Amino acid sequence: MDDRLNVAVQSKGRLFEGSLELLKAGGISINNGKDQLKASSHNFPLDVLYLRNSDIPQYVVDGVADVGVVGENLLIEKQANVDVIEKLGFSKCRLSIALPKEASYSNLKDLNGKRIATSYPVTLKEFLLKNNLDAEIHVISGSVEIAPNIGLSDAICDLVSSGSTLFKNGLVEKEVILKSQAVLIKNKNLSTTKETLIDKVLFRIRTTLQARKSKYILLNAPNDKVEEISQLLPVLKSPTVLPLATEGWCSIHSVIDEDRFWEVIDQLKAAGAEGILIVPIEKIVI
Ligand code: PRP
Repeated sequence: MDDRLNVAVQSKGRLFEGSLELLKAGGISINNGKDQLKASSHNFPLDVLYLRNSDIPQYVVDGVADVGVVGENLLIEKQANVDVIEKLGFSKCRLSIALPKEASYSNLKDLNGKRIATSYPVTLKEFLLKNNLDAEIHVISGSVEIAPNIGLSDAICDLVSSGSTLFKNGLVEKEVILKSQAVLIKNKNLSTTKETLIDKVLFRIRTTLQARKSKYILLNAPNDKVEEISQLLPVLKSPTVLPLATEGWCSIHSVIDEDRFWEVIDQLKAAGAEGILIVPIEKIVI
């Protein structure tokens, strides 16, 4: 149907919750589809298809799904011919090479002659070629991290997020091949109707993503410090400055990136800011 958008979402695994949360934050309600293959939104012309993670890029290439949420790592491995329309900021991980903690390793050249187990043979092969390395790739589809312990390989190339799986299996991360996060992809040949629906979804997603990485900041400052403090605050347009009941003082309000806040907090205090409040933001529409 051309009047509804088909969104492919991982049926289980690390991207499932983040994908649905993002739709929900954009006001798109989906009936819980944990055991369903398809669920419809009743307040937006959109259907969610719950699919196996590794199948999603191909479903989007074939147009079975119009858009999909996948990890960049998978997209690179599958070399799928789709458009990446937004980085979604969740499910961050890296594809890394790890070795048993007792193995000696000083640089990339030590991978020569090694057997490396992975579910990412395409990406690994490209990495080895690029670095002129000659290692043997052993393709396995799951539980890659046990391969060195059972004598199947000398090293692994797998996803690392918290690092606890590596730790539990006595492995140490040595090389990061790529960094990944969830991305929104779309089919390259969509109708104008579908593109319009995507624009609407994208607008809602972006207001949420922008808000997630921003904080509302309120602080008190002497009037003669307003300019100096304002310089320290990256703002949407210009900071709001309101007089306080106390003579010679005002309240400055602005929006700041959460990461940036920790960089400028000492400078704000040194410039005379007091009573600094940091408040979460629900949505930002620019
Ligand atoms: C990945 C990867 C590791 C684990 C690493 O598996 O294969 O097993 O996550 O995460 P950690 O560093 O936080 O311990 P995932 O759960 O994505 O499922 P998969 O086996 O289907 O890839």
